[in-house]
Amino acid sequence: MRQAGRSLPEYRAIRGGGTILDAIQDPDLSTELSLQPVRRYGVDAAILYSDIVVPAFAVGFGLTVTPGIGPEVEHPFRRRDDLGRLRPLDPEADTPYVVQTVRQLVADLEVPLIGFAGAPFTVASYLVEGRPSKDHAVAKALMLSDEMLWHDLLDRLADLAVASLMSQIDAGVSAVQLFDSWAGSLSPAQYRRYVLPHSQKVLSAIGSTGVPRIHFGVTTGEFLGQIGEAGADVVGVDWRVPLREARRRVGQGRALQGNLDPTAVLAGLPAALAATRDVLAENAGHPGHVFNLGHGVIPTSDPDILTEITRCVHAEGRTDGPTA
Ligand code: CP3
Repeated sequence: MRQAGRSLPEYRAIRGGGTILDAIQDPDLSTELSLQPVRRYGVDAAILYSDIVVPAFAVGFGLTVTPGIGPEVEHPFRRRDDLGRLRPLDPEADTPYVVQTVRQLVADLEVPLIGFAGAPFTVASYLVEGRPSKDHAVAKALMLSDEMLWHDLLDRLADLAVASLMSQIDAGVSAVQLFDSWAGSLSPAQYRRYVLPHSQKVLSAIGSTGVPRIHFGVTTGEFLGQIGEAGADVVGVDWRVPLREARRRVGQGRALQGNLDPTAVLAGLPAALAATRDVLAENAGHPGHVFNLGHGVIPTSDPDILTEITRCVHAEGRTDGPTA
């Protein structure tokens, strides 16, 4: 997941100064940064080194990603005129470096590569707030006060996500993940009315490619069923909902991804392995399970503990059918 590489000394050694938006424009560097966690941990898939704000950046919306803070926008999205700052993405011209990185990775990797995009709500929250926010109050106030403008904004962001994902699929990724990290700030009714149709549009637009789709948000337990309804093949679950209960909420026909609490990695090896085994036990042998952390790797995580967690999952993860 996000920032698996950031805890690694080999990442810090080559990442260089500047923002992640500078780093990803160098395909050789972003190829290497994507490969590092795979080499170190022996995980079963790689995730592209990029960021959810890249399409909005590439069409010239005017944003940066400040190290230690996150995405920041000089002139946040506030009124109808601002839609003009979100023209359609032409991936070959606007993000050739992403396409190039995917091609290089697919050639180099022995495991599948996961591409990704930000879901319309989570990208909108950055564009409207102008910076990372805990309550997403400015974005939600726009959503509740000007529904037409809100839907027009999310529709444009859905188009950006579709164009970006299609270019990654054309370049060879084996699966895609749509990150709606901050959707958990919404009520189930708000999610259904203001967000779900736009995420559905993204996921259905790429459905014809047959590439598996993963959809993930943090604190979305109260509407996990709707996250599934958005149309993904795999629903990401954070650590707040046990997998057994998540499976009940999501229903038949979709796999789950999750859900080790990232802070368990900071608690020392015995506690980390115990928490890992608890996740496997909750999954109870279901074949439709992608083990991962319920959110990104915390940068102070000890790489050796992450290695041991990976080993444990490989040795003890059962895929021979449900035991309960
Ligand atoms: O592990 C990886 O490197 C995979 C690539 C990846 C990044 N961002 C790289 C990154 C992915 C999949 C993302 C997605 C992303 N970016 C999300 C959705 C997933 C999630 O974690 O919820 C979100 C919300 C963002 C926005 C964002 N970008 C934040 C909040 C930050 C952290 C700022 C900080 O420095 O603490 C970023 C920057 C960022 N994106 C880094 C990395 C590796 C941090 C280090 C850097 O600048 O190189």
